[in-house]
Amino acid sequence: MELTWENLENAVRACHGCDLCAERRNAVPGEGNRKAAVLFVGEGPGRQEDEQGRPFVGPAGQLLDRMLSSIGLNREQVFIANVVKCRPPGNREPTQEEAAACLPYLRAQFVLLRPKIIVCLGRTAAMHIVRPDIRITRERGRWVEKKGVYILPTYHPSALLRDETGQKKREAWQDLKSLREKMRELGLYEEP
Ligand code: URA
Ligand code: SF4
Repeated sequence: MELTWENLENAVRACHGCDLCAERRNAVPGEGNRKAAVLFVGEGPGRQEDEQGRPFVGPAGQLLDRMLSSIGLNREQVFIANVVKCRPPGNREPTQEEAAACLPYLRAQFVLLRPKIIVCLGRTAAMHIVRPDIRITRERGRWVEKKGVYILPTYHPSALLRDETGQKKREAWQDLKSLREKMRELGLYEEP
């Protein structure tokens, strides 16, 4: 089958590639600007994402929107996807098996989008995109370049919601500024 956004979305919505299909209400393929230079990757849908079939629409998503707007971006300018497209029960981490079954969809999204920058939101995204043993607390904010694509590991917004000392929020703000800087460097940033 030809690789198009529509075919990919339909395949995800009908997928029975792993056990997560059993309890999902809606698969969440991802959404955003199909010409975006920046791809954000989370872990997997939560409750509200599962109900709506859309990525990052719950509390973590509201924080993500605020994070984007803090550097003059909005979700219509970027693309937002997840490692797994169906909700892991109770929001547990996806297993290796589930991630392996689902990653071909993320790779297809990467092929369609050809982003210049990938922001890994949290360890799950970073371990599958950067390195399996990545330590997010130690390695967040450090750009990794792979074949001309710049990858930034940072905290997941859910981790920021749980952050009691404010330390992670301060670091996440550094990372957002670093993203804006990289976009400027690459000529991808439109000053708001
Ligand atoms: N958390 C994620 O990792 N992805 C979503 O889409 C929503 C919450
Ligand atoms: Fe298919 Fe991915 Fe959903 Fe598993 S999580 S059923 S591989 S779309």
